Amino acid sequence: MAKAGKSQSSTKPKPIKLKINGQKRTFDIDDPKLPNWIDDSDLSAGGYPYDKRMKREDYEQALERMQIELVKLQYWLQSAGERVMILFEGRDAAGKGGTIAAMRQYMNPRTARNVALPKPTETERGQWYFQRYVAHFPTAGEFVTFDRSWYNRAGVEPVMGFCTPQQHELFLEQAPHFERGIVADGIRFFKVWLAIGQETQLRRFHDRRHDPLKSWKFSPIDIAGIEKWDDYTKARDEMFERTHTQDTPWIVVQANDKRRARLAVIRRLLLSIPYDGRDESAIGEEDAAIIGGP
Ligand code: ADP
Ligand code: AMP
Ligand code: MLT
Repeated sequence: MAKAGKSQSSTKPKPIKLKINGQKRTFDIDDPKLPNWIDDSDLSAGGYPYDKRMKREDYEQALERMQIELVKLQYWLQSAGERVMILFEGRDAAGKGGTIAAMRQYMNPRTARNVALPKPTETERGQWYFQRYVAHFPTAGEFVTFDRSWYNRAGVEPVMGFCTPQQHELFLEQAPHFERGIVADGIRFFKVWLAIGQETQLRRFHDRRHDPLKSWKFSPIDIAGIEKWDDYTKARDEMFERTHTQDTPWIVVQANDKRRARLAVIRRLLLSIPYDGRDESAIGEEDAAIIGGP
């Protein structure tokens, strides 16, 4: 699976030819006008269950009520000495960073940490693959999110050729054992996959390219990845097959609408942890069309 690592650095500005749902498409990231075929289908892409985004007002209200619950959860973690760890995965532009930000907005940053590691250093490349992640695990009372995680070795690394097929295979073999150790030690561990459609991803890349406030999010890896949609799909399916276990199941969230996705993730977390003073009405019920398994 170590393919085409070489094309990674060539940030080609020329239009890219794609085939989406059997249709031939041309996508020019540098053209400020978003093509109609993206504009018309970026919410429905990939079989999304709703044809309207959630209204901002409804979202903000629901979010704030759950953010209050998150603060209670954090107090509980500290008094009970419990640990929470949530990792976020998904294709580029799936909305990992924004979901984490919504979750942490009103939490005490001293005990709610986010971990977003850069690519491994020389020293780290010489270590056991999981080693550098372990250093960031929570201690008693802490709430730790991972924006990307060891699952790089099941996605970007094999797809972009940053690891060998043997390293990929070894990872898929080791990950369930590694994660069993996490839950066996009592850490409340969640792994979330944010699922987006292809047109959704293209619209977000386009936004990043043309909005000066978002351009920092746009990387050469993203550009190279545009043509690798199917390789990522294959890598994802294999990852689910090998790492969706009883002890550490994947939580899959439909994320073309960021608002519904953020609420669904926070709601799942609140429903899974027995903190004190829970207000059921603030949490509401899960939407099985948005959150489920692989
Ligand atoms: P992000 O999605 O976090 O904005 P990128 O799209 O640039 O970042 O990269 C995606 C992921 O690939 C990151 O987790 C990054 O650390 C990883 N990555 C990038 N280059 C390499 C590399 N040479 N070897 C291993 N991992 C890499
Ligand atoms: P987002 O989910 O869109 O908020 O993306 C956040 C990701 O972009 C993080 O994983 C960062 O590692 C990455 N990133 C790339 N360039 C920068 C930068 N200049 N400053 C901060 N983060 C960056
Ligand atoms: C996201 O938005 O999903 C990530 O945090 C950033 C990226 O991978 O492009």
